[in-house]
Amino acid sequence: MSSSLFRRKSIDKIVKEAAEGLSDGHSTGNLNKVLGVRDLTFMGIAAVVGAGIFSTIGKAAFDGGPGISLLFVITAITCGFSALCYAEFASRVPIAGSAYTYAYVSFGELIAWIIGWALILEYAIGNIVVAISWSSYFNNLLEALHIHLPGWLTVDPSTASAAFKGTTESIASGTPITPNMQLVLDAWNNAPIIGGARIFINLPAFIIVCLVSILTYVGIKESKKSANAMVIFKVLVIIFVIIMGIFSVKPSYWSPFMPNGIEGILKGVSAVFYAYIGFDAISTTAEECKNPQRDLPRGMIYSLVICTILYILIALVLTCMVPFTELNVNDPLAFVFERVGKEWIGYVVSISAVVATTSVLLVFQLGQPRIWMSMSRDGLLPKAFGKIHPKYQTPYISTIVTAIIVAVPSLFMQSSLMTDLTSIGTLFAFVLVAGGVLMLPRNNDVLAKGSFRLPYINGQFIVPVLYGIFIYLGWNRIIEGIQHLNTDKFQEFLFLIYLVFAGFITILTFIRKYSLIPVLGMLSCSYLLVEIPAISWLWFFAWMGIGLTIYFLYGYRKSKLAGA
Ligand code: ALA
Repeated sequence: MSSSLFRRKSIDKIVKEAAEGLSDGHSTGNLNKVLGVRDLTFMGIAAVVGAGIFSTIGKAAFDGGPGISLLFVITAITCGFSALCYAEFASRVPIAGSAYTYAYVSFGELIAWIIGWALILEYAIGNIVVAISWSSYFNNLLEALHIHLPGWLTVDPSTASAAFKGTTESIASGTPITPNMQLVLDAWNNAPIIGGARIFINLPAFIIVCLVSILTYVGIKESKKSANAMVIFKVLVIIFVIIMGIFSVKPSYWSPFMPNGIEGILKGVSAVFYAYIGFDAISTTAEECKNPQRDLPRGMIYSLVICTILYILIALVLTCMVPFTELNVNDPLAFVFERVGKEWIGYVVSISAVVATTSVLLVFQLGQPRIWMSMSRDGLLPKAFGKIHPKYQTPYISTIVTAIIVAVPSLFMQSSLMTDLTSIGTLFAFVLVAGGVLMLPRNNDVLAKGSFRLPYINGQFIVPVLYGIFIYLGWNRIIEGIQHLNTDKFQEFLFLIYLVFAGFITILTFIRKYSLIPVLGMLSCSYLLVEIPAISWLWFFAWMGIGLTIYFLYGYRKSKLAGA
């Protein structure tokens, strides 16, 4: 059994099968090949710039102060290593399915399934966060236009009940009622009651997911055109925000640069990483690219570079416009302009946030069905998930299922835990993709002309030196971790596990002369995982437990490779 868990497909076979559009003798039809390098770059930016930079960055800046800009640089470098690894795979395995497909050819079926399951966290759960953020910016805009939706139709039950509790406590302690508090009270009092429970739903979040899903159902061409238009708009607004922001900066706000030390900055890891997630999503469209081996790697790298430059500039400007202590808000980019008396720019930012989050929704709603399509072709999911619509040439059943599993929870769910879960799932995929590159044969002469090739730099000596420096710099944390081994300091415990893991990879690199870039990709992504809080890990393992149960009950038996 153990060897069959790691049964894997050869790259040649997987490419041939997809080219023939065959699934177990059953034609799944072909996808529409329309995407070029410019579309892919735009699609990458469409997926990356969204709720992260418009929303979650606020809390990260509040915790870390201006030093958060450093985290944007560090995360960009980490994502850069991953992008190069994704690019290498995209050029060697130009098949839809992203990290799932890459894991199938390098580590085998079990890990591929685990990755496919983790990617649901990145795409579907990630999109719930984006839909909720969309709804909140959209509602702000409606309010600015004096259009008031009933409060109970714009919020999930947990947020509503927490807000009501907070408001009644404030009133009880003598705080005068503000307009916002009145809104909370009205929403609570006007909510319909069914079976004794007050009903709250986030209807705008639900509706936007449905609308975007219709677009992804109808076609890749339509999706491409919409994504391109949205990207041009949001990038122009972001450049405008950076330029206007520069006129309002006060360099004195940069001191102290790291008010809460490194710890404060590291609290922002999952929010900042979340802001970068998405460049990898374009690898799910491999079968809709005109020349995937050449264009996919370029699209990924170009979009990451452009987003990194924009993000670092925004982080610098944002933390220099108002004191960082005021940034713990859901709409930080709009807020800073209101705060410096330029409200109209705040409105422009809100419009752009609605557009930006719509484009993220679009790319992720496109990505998830294509991963399921690949899993279905391999027999790990029912055949229906791989069916292509005869007219629209999209994996329509997977598209409908994705729409349901994102739209329905976005009616009721709270976004905070979802951000962490999305980041864990994605980092986990990045670690395995980087590890997978190390398993690929170094020379591969089937590569088409112009295909991307990851430069080989021997890590044999560089990685041990870097590991030594890491131990030297982290010595105090190591000692602290050992001293607290029997207490509940979860992060310190994870740090020690990381140290052992990194030591193991360092020894392997020394012995096998591993390529430097994937090794650094693995080590840096797994380091970021160390900073994710315990509660999110608990949910992550529960999620993985469900996934493994489904695999053993269904995929293991139905796999195309079963009995092969
Ligand atoms: N990076 C994407 C966003 O920030 C997920 O919305």
